[in-house]
Amino acid sequence: MRTSVLLPAAMLSWLPVLLLISISWISSVSATSGSFIHCLLSHSQPSHPISAAIYTPSNGSYSSVLQSYIRNLRFNTSTTRKPYLILTALHESHIQAAVVCAHRHNLQMKIRSGGHDYEGVSYVAEVPFFILDMFNLRSIHIDMESETAWVQAGATLGEVYYRIYEKSKTHGFPAGVCPTVGVGGHFSGGGYGNMMRKYGLSVDNIIDAQIVDVKGKLLDRKSMGEDLFWAIRGGGGASFGVVVSYKIKIVRVPKIVTVFRVAKTLDQNATDIVYRWQHVADKLDNNLFIRLILDVVNGTDGQKTGRATFITLFLGDSDKLLSVMKKSFPELGLKKSDCNETSWVQSVLFWTNFPLGTANDVLLSRTPQSLTYLKRKSDYVKKPISKDGLEVIWKRLIELQYVALTFNPYGGRMAEIPAEESPFPHRAGNLAKIQYAVNWNQTGQNWTDYYINLTRKLYSYMTPYVSKNPREAFFNYKDLDLGINHNGKDSYSEGRVYGIKYFKGNFKRLVKIKTEVDPGNFFRNEQSIPILPHGR
Ligand SMILES: Cc1cc2nc3c(=O)[nH]c(=O)nc-3n(C[C@H](O)[C@H](O)[C@H](O)COP(=O)(O)OP(=O)(O)OC[C@H]3O[C@@H](n4cnc5c(N)ncnc54)[C@H](O)[C@@H]3O)c2cc1C
Ligand SMILES: *[C@@H]1O[C@H](CO)[C@@H](O)[C@H](O)[C@H]1NC(C)=O
Ligand SMILES: *[C@@H]1O[C@H](CO)[C@@H](O)[C@H](O)[C@H]1NC(C)=O
Ligand SMILES: *[C@@H]1O[C@H](CO)[C@@H](O)[C@H](O)[C@H]1NC(C)=O
Ligand SMILES: *[C@@H]1O[C@H](CO)[C@@H](O)[C@H](O)[C@H]1NC(C)=O
Ligand SMILES: *[C@@H]1O[C@H](CO)[C@@H](O)[C@H](O)[C@H]1NC(C)=O
Ligand SMILES: *[C@@H]1O[C@H](CO)[C@@H](O)[C@H](O)[C@H]1NC(C)=O
Ligand SMILES: *[C@@H]1O[C@H](CO)[C@@H](O)[C@H](O)[C@H]1NC(C)=O
Ligand SMILES: *[C@@H]1O[C@H](CO)[C@@H](O)[C@H](O)[C@H]1NC(C)=O
Repeated sequence: MRTSVLLPAAMLSWLPVLLLISISWISSVSATSGSFIHCLLSHSQPSHPISAAIYTPSNGSYSSVLQSYIRNLRFNTSTTRKPYLILTALHESHIQAAVVCAHRHNLQMKIRSGGHDYEGVSYVAEVPFFILDMFNLRSIHIDMESETAWVQAGATLGEVYYRIYEKSKTHGFPAGVCPTVGVGGHFSGGGYGNMMRKYGLSVDNIIDAQIVDVKGKLLDRKSMGEDLFWAIRGGGGASFGVVVSYKIKIVRVPKIVTVFRVAKTLDQNATDIVYRWQHVADKLDNNLFIRLILDVVNGTDGQKTGRATFITLFLGDSDKLLSVMKKSFPELGLKKSDCNETSWVQSVLFWTNFPLGTANDVLLSRTPQSLTYLKRKSDYVKKPISKDGLEVIWKRLIELQYVALTFNPYGGRMAEIPAEESPFPHRAGNLAKIQYAVNWNQTGQNWTDYYINLTRKLYSYMTPYVSKNPREAFFNYKDLDLGINHNGKDSYSEGRVYGIKYFKGNFKRLVKIKTEVDPGNFFRNEQSIPILPHGR
């Protein structure tokens, strides 16, 4: 029997009850905590003492270890639930001990690699929990001969890109734009970036993996089998085990690539250009990826106006790019002076808003350029939005002001890979994915409510223009508005609600695999894959 304490939202305002629960929680936790630590210590190998990896709240470094990988300030408040222990694994055996002991003591484990989960799912829980923190396990071994690399879960994308760059100026890897994102969450949840039209997602370029399963066994692709290997390439690692490392196929990039960032406001025909973008962005040369951001700025007349920004990576030189643009997307009016030819590694910096010319080793920094409070949501666009529709969207964006929409074009390689090849189901038939983004700096729950409310309103306004039945969403853009799993007796029906949105037809196979590899639902969180209910 699991002894989880569930806190329904309605109860949160009922202080006396909350207080009682908290007190009983603390005492029950300290009781289990002692024997849990004892279990960890008894599983310690003399050559790799686990004691050096244990941080309890009484340790002076506990808070800084906890805060080091909080990437959303919404979860850095004094009322945010704290783990009663952080285990900063230094060796695979520490992961194995964590799983074996947590399983034995029925403790909720949260696994954190880069900490970029939009909803803090890797380091916050509503029930007593501890964090297995992976940041120390971040080695990267590249073999240029086979054009492959073993990458540990605690590495960041920036570290992966930099280590590849050290070995070769003509190789890269198709993964996310933000260099501080962690491999563990990013790869296991899909992982896309500006080379996806050419090479697909990160998961489309993973060829082996190491995972610690619910029994504490260290498995590779061969010993885990093809089902589990399939699941941890897009279905989220945290439902199935602890991903220790992935073996990736690195990809070829030209010596010279071209980038540009061009913005058009409404009085510069943004609507017409965006309309055209929708008809070409998913059909262009696979070497060309044009991201579109819609947001709101101050116009020259002091009134708010809409702005469309086109941010591009082209795997080729600027002459070639200009000829492709002239043929396929002349409406943007791209000029040679808008373009910068550079190396692939520099293009990564450009895309994350460093000026070209910044030293490449800034990719090794594990600290983000800035931290804010944030909320994200996602949608899929299947067919172009009409000009009238775009006018409505601009009106709403200006009304709400702070929420931006980022459109990432699909097509190319994305449309060629079958929807069942990995758990990530959003392949052919998608024009673009939208990310809703709002960032803010004001502290206080009322501000959080205010900004989250804005994103929900925009999401509601967007209903006519996006996918339906299901309204699809991207798993790596974790959004608890889509449903929360309390992992009680309704776990399957709760999980189905968000599961179908994230995984469509692949949800069924994920549940089947989950039920086989973790029948007791040890690896669980607010949006994990549920097990089949008994008798189904
Ligand atoms: C600034 C920013 C930029 C982003 N840009 C992109 C982008 O360009 N493309 C894109 O696809 N996504 C992007 N994302 C989303 C990002 O891919 C996901 O948030 C991803 O899950 C983060 O991985 P992480 O290891 O940093 O996160 P964590 O918060 O550590 O983990 C995220 C989830 O994965 C689980 N997990 C982590 N490590 C392991 C492990 N070793 N084994 C099993 N489960 C594990 C966690 O328990 C949690 O459920 C971005 C996010 C941010 C904050
Ligand atoms: C905190 O924990 C770490 C890891 O176990 C240990 O090395 C360190 O000495 C502890 N610090 C204090 C002040 O207890
Ligand atoms: C997180 O909260 C702590 C404690 O209030 C604070 O000291 C720290 O500065 C916060 N971190 C950020 C990045 O704001
Ligand atoms: C906008 O489009 C119209 C016609 O479609 C054109 O005459 C005008 O020059 C364009 N304006 C800008 C700023 O490109
Ligand atoms: C935009 O205008 C508002 C006033 O309407 C002002 O407060 C704000 O600072 C301006 N923003 C920028 C980026 O200029
Ligand atoms: C980018 O391109 C512009 C226009 O060609 C050029 O003026 C500028 O110097 C380039 N910037 C860098 C950093 O190369
Ligand atoms: C929040 O503050 C950071 C710097 O601390 C700033 O760069 C950013 O523009 C601010 N964001 C908003 C939404 O005000
Ligand atoms: C939140 O509360 C603070 C302090 O009470 C207030 O100044 C601020 O205007 C409030 N914000 C919103 C969005 O209501
Ligand atoms: C959120 O929006 C709803 C409906 O528009 C409104 O009733 C509610 O007061 C808003 N909440 C906040 C905190 O702004």
